[in-house]
Amino acid sequence: MSGNHRESNRQIVPFKAKVIEPIRLIPLDERLAVIERAGLNMFNIRAEDVYIDLLTDSGTGSISNAQLAGMMMGDESYAGSRSFHRLAETFQNLTGLPYVLPSHQGRGAEKVLNSVLVKKNRVVPGNSHFDTTKAHIEFAGGRCVDCTIKEGKSSQTMHPFKGNVDLEKLRATIDEFGPKNIAYVLITVTCNSGGGQPVSLENIHAVSELAHGKGVRVYFDAARFAENAYFIKEREAGYEKKTIPQIVREMFDCVDGCTMSSKKDAIVPMGGLVATRDQGLYEALKVPTILFEGFFTYGGMSGLMMEALAQGLEEVVQEDYLVHRISQSRMLGKWLNEVGVPIVEPVGGHAVFIDGRRFFPHVPEDQFPAQLLCVEMYKEGAVRPVEVGSNLIGRDPDNGDNIRPALDLCRLALPRRVYGKEHLEYVVDVADTVRKTEGSRRSGLMFDKELPGIRHFVSTFKYV
Ligand SMILES: Cc1ncc(COP(=O)(O)O)c(C=O)c1O
Repeated sequence: MSGNHRESNRQIVPFKAKVIEPIRLIPLDERLAVIERAGLNMFNIRAEDVYIDLLTDSGTGSISNAQLAGMMMGDESYAGSRSFHRLAETFQNLTGLPYVLPSHQGRGAEKVLNSVLVKKNRVVPGNSHFDTTKAHIEFAGGRCVDCTIKEGKSSQTMHPFKGNVDLEKLRATIDEFGPKNIAYVLITVTCNSGGGQPVSLENIHAVSELAHGKGVRVYFDAARFAENAYFIKEREAGYEKKTIPQIVREMFDCVDGCTMSSKKDAIVPMGGLVATRDQGLYEALKVPTILFEGFFTYGGMSGLMMEALAQGLEEVVQEDYLVHRISQSRMLGKWLNEVGVPIVEPVGGHAVFIDGRRFFPHVPEDQFPAQLLCVEMYKEGAVRPVEVGSNLIGRDPDNGDNIRPALDLCRLALPRRVYGKEHLEYVVDVADTVRKTEGSRRSGLMFDKELPGIRHFVSTFKYV
């Protein structure tokens, strides 16, 4: 942490706008028609009908001038492109993982890795697996067991590392199924489904020791690895003086490999990768990469995107960037708190999560309170959040029952380097207005059409 930022208590924004994209607030009657047509599903709204888009921090960041300049140098050779080698070397230098396979985005990487590591009935314990990750593990015939610590399941418990893995639960899971039936242990850094919460290095070391001691591999879902490293620096004793790249290296030294959606911390519109230390596995992963993604030196990415990704990996570990990034989420959380909007605390890295059940205490849990809040925020001010709760988590594959998650959240994800203070003030005003007006007295929601698969993307709703 640079001393200046702390001492002066001023927020330093380490970039300025050079190219802008116009946005527009459409009038209330149009917003009501839009949300009705969308079946009360945020994913069915056209982006031009949204004023502040907090649907995701994935692929929505602003690229830097250096990334744009790098893109001009993109080498589009089918095999052995210079841009691939720049990307692989940058990633190797940062993480120490020697074998890198690009993929078109995070879920492409998940498909590649799980198609090789997961066999029928194999188990993948981890900390609140992300939805596409869980779906890919299940698609390959496997099962996820959530081993997140209990503090990570409560929106009000203060804990510096709510993404941590419960070591006893992990040990019991490995013993119950037997190490041979554990495909690998997955640590998601930071933990998106749990509210963007970090995992401590102490916990990463302990998981690694426990799993490796039983002959089980450990992988990261590394989409937000740099934000996780920043929280370690800020909150974990002994790391205050380490640089972000040093912390990142120590994190990756504990694992056998990773999948990564590069649309988050690597700040590119599109891309991902799988990386491993295991040469044999690398050779095996080349096959699904070629089948599903593209030749193993581009994996569905263009040369220009690989250049932007390599540059993004260098920018995201810069401390002034991370100081600004994390303080922006924290500021949004603080302002929401001040007007009485119930949020998950402490605020995580990439988003602020509003607790849907506490926002709408009169709405029954199975009537999707967090989804309702997303709808009301769109109606009030064309702000587009997303639900991370009962809708997203889906049904139990064994009995088809709706799963009731520990938290039902309305996520306000912050695109990187895109919105400033005025935009966030507007968002707070919209949430506050919903809380104070008839928006807060609405009835809950039920499915109009529930579609199978990853239902939250495609299903439609109506008011109960
Ligand atoms: C933790 C995590 N893992 C994996 C993914 C999937 O990545 P992608 O959207 O690039 O397929 C996401 C996307 O949001 C994520 O947050």
